[in-house]
Amino acid sequence: ASIEKGNYRHYMQKEIFEQPTVVAQTLSSYIRPLEQTVALPQMDFDLAGVKRITIVACGTSYYAGMVAKYWFETFARVPVDIDVASEFRYRDPVLEEGGLALFISQSGETADTLAALRHCKEHGQTIAVVVNVPTSSMAREADLLLPTHAGPEIGVASTKAFTCQLAVLAALAAHLALVKGKLSAEQEREIVRHLIEAPAALNAALAHDEDIAAMAHLIAPARDVLYLGRGPDYPLAMEGALKLKEISYIHAEGYASGEMKHGPIALIDEAVPVIVLAPSGPLFEKTVSNMQEVRARGGKVVLISDAEGIEEAGEGCLATIEMPSVHPLIAPLVYAVPVQLLAYHVACAKGTDVDQPRNLAKSVTVE
Ligand code: AGP
Repeated sequence: ASIEKGNYRHYMQKEIFEQPTVVAQTLSSYIRPLEQTVALPQMDFDLAGVKRITIVACGTSYYAGMVAKYWFETFARVPVDIDVASEFRYRDPVLEEGGLALFISQSGETADTLAALRHCKEHGQTIAVVVNVPTSSMAREADLLLPTHAGPEIGVASTKAFTCQLAVLAALAAHLALVKGKLSAEQEREIVRHLIEAPAALNAALAHDEDIAAMAHLIAPARDVLYLGRGPDYPLAMEGALKLKEISYIHAEGYASGEMKHGPIALIDEAVPVIVLAPSGPLFEKTVSNMQEVRARGGKVVLISDAEGIEEAGEGCLATIEMPSVHPLIAPLVYAVPVQLLAYHVACAKGTDVDQPRNLAKSVTVE
């Protein structure tokens, strides 16, 4: 039923706007709002005994995995190894007995991810899968199935599947932390409260659609764009760059802010817009100081932050996009929205085929 475009120009646009609904829908299977507890499906293996998690995925799903690495390590203190599936499957990874391997995929059919899953199975790993298509190969082959409820995603550029993956992964991180004894009941309730706030925060982010559309002309003429972020917002920077590449055909790189001065800063001039993802929080000052280094070299900065952050550091930027003030846990979900909208509007400004970009397939079922 939900595969009509309705009043939207493109599927991608519709899917971006569906996020508050589908994230809420997804969360409703992983948390109990009244009790304020997380509620993961029954597991017939010893999750508390897991010493290491291996995450494998491709593209946008891989970036969701990178965000999850921060969460699993911070909350549950479980070390995480993460790789793109095409590398993982051929590098003879070290897989210890009793390990948990986690695969993330919208389609559940991506050839490299599926091959990596089978490799892990052969090597005695417990297989957990975060997947959007419940009838997919990955869903069938999982020991632990963690579905996202994003509904059919038609646009080649993944949007709502990503934020739903993050919602599931945040709940899983909290659950893992609980069974590992790293989270008190009060901390669990706090995490659940933040997750419950996510759909409203996504709506608040979507309210900036028109501002973002209006600034698309600043980015559309660029040949290269840099995206910067730190911590869990670093994968978001890479996701932002991937979205720009895919649908607007602009060369874009996502960098960890602190890596700028190890090379990419040499690229900075007036023609290379630098988009900085900097929610206020523990890493804000660090990111802003990297942003100032860019500005000192004539770089044009678009700052995506909340009111506090923009007030503190927005002056002199080419443009700012104001996000709601949210807890750092849900910032990656919320900041996904401006990143998606910016790519979308730049692509529209350039007149590219948003839903069917050249050379790309929705599901990459060959190597
Ligand atoms: C995202 O916008 C891409 N089209 C692509 O990177 C995608 O995320 C990747 O191919 C993985 O697909 P999957 O989630 O279906 O496995």
